[in-house]
Amino acid sequence: MTSTTVLLGQTLRFADDPFHAPIEDAAIWERRGAVVIADGIIQDVGGADTLGAAYPDADVVDHGNALITAGFVDAHAHYPQTGIIASWGKRLIDWLNTYTFPEETRFGDADYAKDVAARYLDLTRANGTTTMASFCTIHPESVDALFEAAEGRNQRVVAGKTCMDRNAPDGLRDTAQGAYDDSKRLLEKWHGRGRGVYAITPRFSPTSTPDQLAALGTLWGEHPDCLMQTHLSEQTDEIAWVAELYPDARDYLDTYEAHGLLGPGGMYGHAIHLTARERARLREVDAALVHCPTSNTFIGSGLFDMAGLMGEGQRIGLATDTGGGSSFSMLRTMAAAYEIAQLRGTALHPAQLYWLATVGSARALRLDDKIGNLAKGMEADIVVLDLSSTAVIAQRADRAETEWEALFPTLMMGDDRAVVETRIAGAAG
Ligand code: GUN
Ligand code: ZN
Repeated sequence: MTSTTVLLGQTLRFADDPFHAPIEDAAIWERRGAVVIADGIIQDVGGADTLGAAYPDADVVDHGNALITAGFVDAHAHYPQTGIIASWGKRLIDWLNTYTFPEETRFGDADYAKDVAARYLDLTRANGTTTMASFCTIHPESVDALFEAAEGRNQRVVAGKTCMDRNAPDGLRDTAQGAYDDSKRLLEKWHGRGRGVYAITPRFSPTSTPDQLAALGTLWGEHPDCLMQTHLSEQTDEIAWVAELYPDARDYLDTYEAHGLLGPGGMYGHAIHLTARERARLREVDAALVHCPTSNTFIGSGLFDMAGLMGEGQRIGLATDTGGGSSFSMLRTMAAAYEIAQLRGTALHPAQLYWLATVGSARALRLDDKIGNLAKGMEADIVVLDLSSTAVIAQRADRAETEWEALFPTLMMGDDRAVVETRIAGAAG
């Protein structure tokens, strides 16, 4: 007999997208709610009184006034950069050459990769993150390490081998054919195994030859159910470099488009300095843009146009971009997204921030039918948050007159101290 668990507390779930529907229609907040879990799946969501009575034999976990929601989904991260997070003083290309590439070189050692993968999944879980789309390194060992660690935790993870065949140091370059062969073998091994999802992963146009982009475009064409993740228009120097390296391309996006790497399962990290043509094409194919706000301020990249891009109907996810991003916490990431939007003249509502960190990111990963929300039939990846986790947050939340006012201090000032519990496929860690 399988056991049933009922979680009690405040609950927040989404019936619609709060960027395009009124907040009161999009978000459902229950002061005394319940989530019923069995077999790793959410069986029911509703009011505590009704559901408590409906499952008299269930184990009950009463979280009191804490907030129960879907676990956070981090739509763009680099697990191999865990050890170099918060490295000082560089902008993108220098940062890659100085800190990132030397660290990534170490992942040819399978034991090192396993060690970092386990640490990364521990740290993200402590922050309430239940799924991430992560880059690995060029080493197949680094891909096996993350998927194996995730499989051991029954965790839904999107990942892929990062491909680079130029402008990277010795020991960190493959070839066009090698990238195709390795990626094909890895996707055949991991895509759809347990909760694993494979993303074909050219790092970005400057570190791939046109031949390598074309080989990966061909592979994606052969496996269209896989995702594809890369970087797009993060810094102006990078964009100028792409124009030199690809003189025939109309713009940065065209370097991907011309090689079969623009499509609906494409996830483009950063997407800050976009041309009108790029925006129109991204919208037309319904590709995903991934906003990485702590990274964009930390590396000095620029201010993502959330209001404009949402207004034109782009598919947008939210991400830490660790270790270019300066935090593992999606709460810190929501705070940074709020601040960047403020600098562009828009105040994002807490419901919009929370939707981005859950449903929005799940949509970017094309997994919103499985994760990112509390609803019957969804996988039971759940975070429970204390909305008074520090003295300063508690004294502000005490004055709140609405649910949103009670939540917002945690979004702006919260971190892993706010996380009471993270459940992955129903299991508390
Ligand atoms: N562009 C290409 N590679 C990277 C990376 O590892 N981090 C960030 N932030 N941008 C990139
Ligand atoms: Zn990145």
